[in-house]
Amino acid sequence: MIPNHMAIIVDGNGRWARNKGLPRSLGHKAGSERLEEITLYAAKKGIKYLSLYVLSCDNLKRSEDEINFLFKLFINTFKKKKEIYKTKNIKVLFSGVKDNLPDLLLKTMDEMVEITKGNTGMIVNFCLNYSSRMEIIDAFKRISKEKVSLDNIDLRKYMYQDLPDIDFLIRTSGEQRLSDFMLYQASYAELYFPKVLFPDFDKNEFDIALAEYEKRDRRFGGINYENTNN
Ligand code: IPE
Ligand code: MG
Repeated sequence: MIPNHMAIIVDGNGRWARNKGLPRSLGHKAGSERLEEITLYAAKKGIKYLSLYVLSCDNLKRSEDEINFLFKLFINTFKKKKEIYKTKNIKVLFSGVKDNLPDLLLKTMDEMVEITKGNTGMIVNFCLNYSSRMEIIDAFKRISKEKVSLDNIDLRKYMYQDLPDIDFLIRTSGEQRLSDFMLYQASYAELYFPKVLFPDFDKNEFDIALAEYEKRDRRFGGINYENTNN
């Protein structure tokens, strides 16, 4: 079985650059090229939902230079790549806080959503200036404004995007933490922490990850009586 909703916490761009004696910005550049390759590969593999943590709200604490470089990189890649996403039948969504983002970036994000909105293939959910705690607070603000009853409430309906739970969550670079990413949606996600730095996370690494997912025995708190190891 392949995961229905796969998520990747992109990590290790800076270390990749440092290992090569390059500025961090070139690590981000290499990471963004890898991200496109992996996204198209995931679509080819039949993944239905792919959430990508490309910038957290806390990342904005980094130097102004690095943040401005990242904003420009997002703007340029979204502008350049929107046609590819359109022709590959990929629908693009964004999750995150819109405040603090430059107008030009917001505009290119809107264009990306607009141009791919009729697509019926894989859904890519870019988590950009995203914070899971903030998303939950925003959900409760909406619930309170709409005076929705809290009995049997399905919180997912009030998140930034109404997507199914995450089945498989990968964080590259060996770090083993969620860093405020999809705390609610990843409740039953299988976690995988490959050592490889994101710019080196190629198709082969993606296949290794899928094979790792295959091996997992998902029980959701129940018992799998077919598996004699239980
Ligand atoms: C992930 O790589 C990319 C973003 C957070 C935008 P990092 O920039 O966190 O790379 P390291 O952790 O410094 O290696
Ligand atoms: Mg990092």
